[in-house]
Amino acid sequence: MLTERPRRSRRTDALRALTREVRLSPEQFIHPMFVHEGEGEQPITTMPGVSRHDLPGAVAQARLAQSLGIRSVILFGIPDHKDPDGSQAYAEHGIIQRAARAIKDACPQLTVIADTCLCEYTDHGHCGPLCQTGTGEWTVDNDAALTLLAQTAVSQARAGADVIAPSAAMDGMVEAIRTALDDAGFSHVPVMSYAVKYASGYYGPFREAAGSTPSQGDRASYQMDPAGGYREALREARLDVEQGADYLMVKPGLPYLDVLRVVRDSFDLPLIAYNVSGEYAMVKAAVQAGMLDERRTVLETLVAFRRAGADAIITYHALDAARWLRGE
Ligand code: PBG
Ligand code: ZN
Repeated sequence: MLTERPRRSRRTDALRALTREVRLSPEQFIHPMFVHEGEGEQPITTMPGVSRHDLPGAVAQARLAQSLGIRSVILFGIPDHKDPDGSQAYAEHGIIQRAARAIKDACPQLTVIADTCLCEYTDHGHCGPLCQTGTGEWTVDNDAALTLLAQTAVSQARAGADVIAPSAAMDGMVEAIRTALDDAGFSHVPVMSYAVKYASGYYGPFREAAGSTPSQGDRASYQMDPAGGYREALREARLDVEQGADYLMVKPGLPYLDVLRVVRDSFDLPLIAYNVSGEYAMVKAAVQAGMLDERRTVLETLVAFRRAGADAIITYHALDAARWLRGE
């Protein structure tokens, strides 16, 4: 005779909901937004449903997100002018600074997270300025990048950013930013570090949207090796904890759910998963081809991040998912 029949407690939706361990709420979503310096909304063809916004468009999106119960956005700036040092990243009136001010004015309760990197602002598309090594090879100048990233973070905090999210994958970046923020009167502003960030093919649509594909070489000398394993992931997370990070992140999301779980079980900091542009594009393409049910697939994906240990999720599906959770 069967003594255990798990199906009994799966019979109705109410029974399934009663003991469900993983729950999703729009408060756990961070809505990513691209803001450009020109005028008008520019749809991003590889990411159906996502656009580059102008300032009024960005404010409207922020309001929309808030009306759906989303309480955090992350901003990516796309400047008109790029140069070798990415100077528009730390310009007082740079695009991300202007966007942060405009959104905080319109939605003071909304958490505005600033992505802190230089690749959208450098003409060569790398995440820091370039230098030549003793043998004449070109590489990203780690320590010169730290100075510029620290300046960028302070300018973003001055513009009202509530959280600084460095994504440049430079050694010592969290400490450099933490010290600069503290010295400038922003000891209350947390650092959400892209601590465990892989050199990934899944960033393709983002780089097209932001015009940040490196013109030469790739990011493999600073972002992590996908086959690097758990020791490297734990080391990167530890270094950022030691340097004062307030949040850790694992990025990309779906191909690294195992890493997310390992980091979750090894540290007590809040943990963010980044469901990146290529993951979004894959689902959208399959949905448009009639191969997948969008609502089911997306909610299942977001549940997977939470089950693997993410407290919050950066996802381009945030607006849709928030609507679905409200039963719309
Ligand atoms: C900037 C940055 C990138 C992403 C977030 N911040 C691109 C990259 O590292 O090349 C990718 C996000 C996505 O693909 O959605 N360093
Ligand atoms: Zn970058």
